[in-house]
Order: sequence, then structure tokens, then C-alpha cells
Amino acid sequence: MYAKITGTGSYLPNHRMDNFELSKLVDTSDEWIQSRTGIKARHIAEHDTVVSLSVRAAKEAICDAEIDPEEIDLIIVSSVSAEQVLPCTACEVQAAIGAVNAASFDLNAACTGFITAYQVAVAQMKAGLIQTALVIGAECLSNLIDWTDRGTCILFGDGAGATVITCENSDIEVPFVLHSDGTKRHVLSCSSGFGAGKSPYGESVFMDGREIYKFAVKKVPELIYEILERHGRSADEIDLFLLHQANKRIISSIAKHLHQDLSKFPMNLQENGNISSASIPVLLDDLNKQGKLKPGMKLIVAGFGAGLTWGGMYLEW
Ligand code: UT7
Repeated sequence: MYAKITGTGSYLPNHRMDNFELSKLVDTSDEWIQSRTGIKARHIAEHDTVVSLSVRAAKEAICDAEIDPEEIDLIIVSSVSAEQVLPCTACEVQAAIGAVNAASFDLNAACTGFITAYQVAVAQMKAGLIQTALVIGAECLSNLIDWTDRGTCILFGDGAGATVITCENSDIEVPFVLHSDGTKRHVLSCSSGFGAGKSPYGESVFMDGREIYKFAVKKVPELIYEILERHGRSADEIDLFLLHQANKRIISSIAKHLHQDLSKFPMNLQENGNISSASIPVLLDDLNKQGKLKPGMKLIVAGFGAGLTWGGMYLEW
């Protein structure tokens, strides 16, 4: 394979907001939220920012990879919710960790952002341009949420996950897949707030939940079959499917489509809610810390979200 994840890290803000606390803000209930989504709680930033969350997750991943920050050639941060436009979060991380040799930039592909950033980093490795990359997914979605809209505020949370990826020479082709459909751009949207009159979208997250649900349960199984076919593998050969943590019902439906046991689809959305581009790297870190990722394990990692965007890849641990 061309690349291996050699370190993981994550950070969630201290404030754990459970469904009962949320039901004091909007007309909802723990029973409704859990039965429709599987979510029990989410972490909400009080003092943290996308930069501070990213730096904490990055430091943990670097420590886990046992590398010197000077060895990092590239830092990519995926986020839709950074508090600042300039400089990019990746440059802030670079300065904070002393990755003096790294190129740094941010990327926005919504909940498919970590997958996209990972694929960009590995493509640079395949091109012979870099050896070591730090790829981060970080979100303060609480910045973008309308806290009076019960249709959206129950879903999202804040947090960051980071991975160190190292190039390993081999001839094995690793299948990556990315897709988008901009004709469905309106179903999950949010303006930056700058020049708001020029944007067709509102200043907090708008979501057509049913459309996103239908899109995810149709396109993600198709995507996984596409990855499997390109790699000449069957779903039965995969040890774990690590999916964007949006909704337990979406993940259960995908497992059913693939004729796979739900136990092969680890979840942390119960405690974290949907943290967009941070959800997959946080899940990777949780599993890594719990010792559930064994060398040689075959993984499918897949994300989907606003844009619409969706993408995934096959990984060996
Ligand atoms: O990263 C991708 C991000 N987005 C997603 O993953 C979203 C995917 N979609 C979903 O997860 C689901 O569509 C939701 C969980 C958002 C909504 O579940 P649903 O089963 O599609 O509910 P619905 O929107 O069709 O609403 C059903 C009812 C409505 O009431 P009426 O019209 O039937 O009387 C809503 O007003 O539930 C009501 N409702 C709520 N009730 C209590 C909507 N939100 C809430 C709420 N608490 N928080």
C-alpha cells in the first residue's frame, strides 16, 4: 500500500450536552432524538475554537506516531466551521506544533472532508512529493447551528480528530473513490455570513433531513460496492466499516444493504453526535485507543454530506 496511518489523536470539548439539556432549549425529547438518530449527547465548545481543537488532536496524533513535527511535509485541515477565514487553520496548527517543513492548507468537502483530505495527501505520496502528512478533521458546528431549530440542533456536535499518514513503498493499488452532485447543493447549506446578501443561503445550517437520509442510504452502499469491486474484494472480507457518524438508522440501513452484521459498523455518534469532517478521524482514534484495530485489518472508510459529496476508500491497518 502507498500509505499507512501511523498515529491518531482526537479532542472533544469538555461540555457534554445530553438530550435532556437540549430539551430545555427546544421542543424535543431524549426519546425522540434517540429513536430517530441514536444520539444521546454531543460535546459543545465553550472556549475552544476549530484551531484549538485541531492543535490538541494533532499533538496527540504526533505523539502516537512517535515522530518529530519537523518530519511532517503536509498539513491539511478539513473544516466547514472555522471561526477565521485567514490564515487557514492548517497554518495555525503548523505554528503551534512547530512543523516547520510542512506545506499547509484547509479544505472544505463537508462531512466527506476528512476522506477528501486523506486522498489528497496520499495522492501527493503517490506522486513522490511527500513522505509524511498530518490530516485533521475539526469542527465547531455549534457556531453554525440555529439553536431554535429542533430539526438540526439535535444532530450536531464539536470536536476534532487527527491522523499521521506515512508513505510506504509498495505496488499495491489502493482504491479511492470521490463523488459529488452540486445540483443537490440546497439540501444542506449555510452562508459564511460575509456578504450575506450575495449568498442564496441563510446564516445558520439549513437541512432537508429526509433528502439527506434518502441520499445516504442509496449512495453509500453503491459507493462501498464500487470500492470493493475496484479492489476485487467482497463485503464479507472486510473487518470493519467506518462510516460518517450521522445517524444510527442510516448506518443500520447501509449494513442491511451490504448484508453485513451491524457489529462490523462501530459507532460513537451516541456520545458525539454528528461532527461532520471530524467524525471519522475521531472514530479511528477511539478504536485505536481501545486496541480494536489490529495490524492487517481490512477497513472500508466512507463519508457523505453537503454538496452533495460522498467518498470512501479501502485501508489496511
Ligand atoms: O452529515 C449529514 C447530516 N445530515 C443528516 O445526516 C440528516 C439525515 N436525516 C435524518 O437524520 C433525519 O431526517 C432526521 C433525524 C433529521 C429527522 O428524522 P425524520 O424521521 O426524517 O423526521 P421528520 O423530519 O420527517 O419529522 C417527523 C416529525 C415532524 O412532525 P410532524 O410534522 O410529523 O408532526 C417534525 O416536526 O418529527 C418532528 N420533529 C421533531 N420532534 C421532536 C423534527 N425534529 C424533532 C425533534 N424533536 N428534534
